[in-house]
Amino acid sequence: MKVAFVGKGGSGKSTVGSLFVRHLIKNDQTVLAIDADINQHFAEMLGAQFIPEKAISNDANSADIRKYLLGTNKKIKDQGQFIKTTPPGTGSQLIRLQSSNPIMRRHTVPFATTGYFMHVGTYEDDGIGTSCYHTNLAILENTVSHTLCGDSEWLVADMVAGTDAFAGPLYLLFDVIFMVVEPTPESVSVFRQFKKLAEAAGMFDRVYVVGNKTMDDDDKKYVQDAAGDKLVAALGYDPKLRKVRQRGGMITDISAATSQELKAIQTFAAQCASDPNKSLALLHDLHKRHAVESYIVAAHGDLTHQIDEDFRY
Ligand SMILES: Nc1ncnc2c1ncn2[C@@H]1O[C@H](COP(=O)(O)OP(=O)(O)OP(=O)(O)O)[C@@H](O)[C@H]1O
Ligand SMILES: [Mg+2]
Repeated sequence: MKVAFVGKGGSGKSTVGSLFVRHLIKNDQTVLAIDADINQHFAEMLGAQFIPEKAISNDANSADIRKYLLGTNKKIKDQGQFIKTTPPGTGSQLIRLQSSNPIMRRHTVPFATTGYFMHVGTYEDDGIGTSCYHTNLAILENTVSHTLCGDSEWLVADMVAGTDAFAGPLYLLFDVIFMVVEPTPESVSVFRQFKKLAEAAGMFDRVYVVGNKTMDDDDKKYVQDAAGDKLVAALGYDPKLRKVRQRGGMITDISAATSQELKAIQTFAAQCASDPNKSLALLHDLHKRHAVESYIVAAHGDLTHQIDEDFRY
C-alpha cells in the first residue's frame, strides 16, 4: 500500500500522517514513512532520529539510490538518465521494506519496531532562488515507483502542501491520497482547488478526505458537506496533540476516538490497494509524454525506449 497525505499548510498532514504510521506499527504493519515536505517535522512526531545528511535529494544519496535502482536494466544507460517518469524494467532492483534491502539500510532510519524513516530534504542553501522543491521530488518519484509493498507493508508519505506534484507522476504512484481538511473555508477551498487539478489529471478517483480538528458535530457536518462521499474519517480537535507539538515531542497518547478514526483510514486504504502493474501502465503513458518534452530531449536525447513492455513487478 502506498499512501500520501496532502492538504493546506497547517491542516495537520504531519500530525494525521504520524498518528496513522504509529497506528499501523502498533498493528504489526511495516512502514516506510517518508517526509516529503519542506517543513520537516515528521521524524520528530514519529519518534525517529532526524539525520540531515540522509536527505535523499543530496546529490551523493540520489546517485547511490539511482545506481541501485538501475541494477542491470539495459534500457537505462546510467543513473544520469533517470528522469522523474523513468519506469522500472527488467534488471531494475526494487526497494523492498526489509532491513536487508540496501536502500532501506543506507537511506532510512529505523524507528519503533517496524518503522523506517526517510526524508527528501529541504532547499539546499545554494539552491534557494536557483532550484525549486519539485526538482527534489524527482528522486522521491524514482524511489516510490521502484518500491514494492508486500502484504502488511505500507509506504506513507507526508507531502508538501501545494500542487507542484501534479506536474509529475507522483500522485499516480500512490494507491490512495488523503487530503487533510479542517472545518474552515480556507481548508475547504484548497480541497476544491485540488479536486479540480486532480480531475484534470484524471486521478480524482484516488483522492479521499480525512477531516481534522473538528470540535463538534457542526464541524463534522461542515467537512462532510464539502467532501461528500469522499470523507473517510474525521479526527477531533485534541488539545493534547497541540501541547505535544509545542514541546517538540512524539505523540504517544492516542485517544480511543482518534484510534477509531485511524482504524477507519487503515481499513479504507487497504481496500484501495491497486494492482501495481496498473500504476506502471499509467507511468508508461506519462513517460511517453514527458520524455519527448524539449528540455528532456535537449538534456538526455530520446528516452522513450526506457519503457520495458515485458516487465511486471
Ligand atoms: N487533531 C488535532 N487537534 C489539535 N491540534 C492539531 C490537530 N492536528 C494538528 N494539530 C496542530 O496543528 C498544527 C499543524 O499541524 P501539522 O504540523 O500536523 O500540520 P501540517 O499540515 O503538517 O503543516 P505544514 O503544512 O506546516 O507541514 C500543529 O500545531 C498541530 O499540533
Ligand atoms: Mg507538515
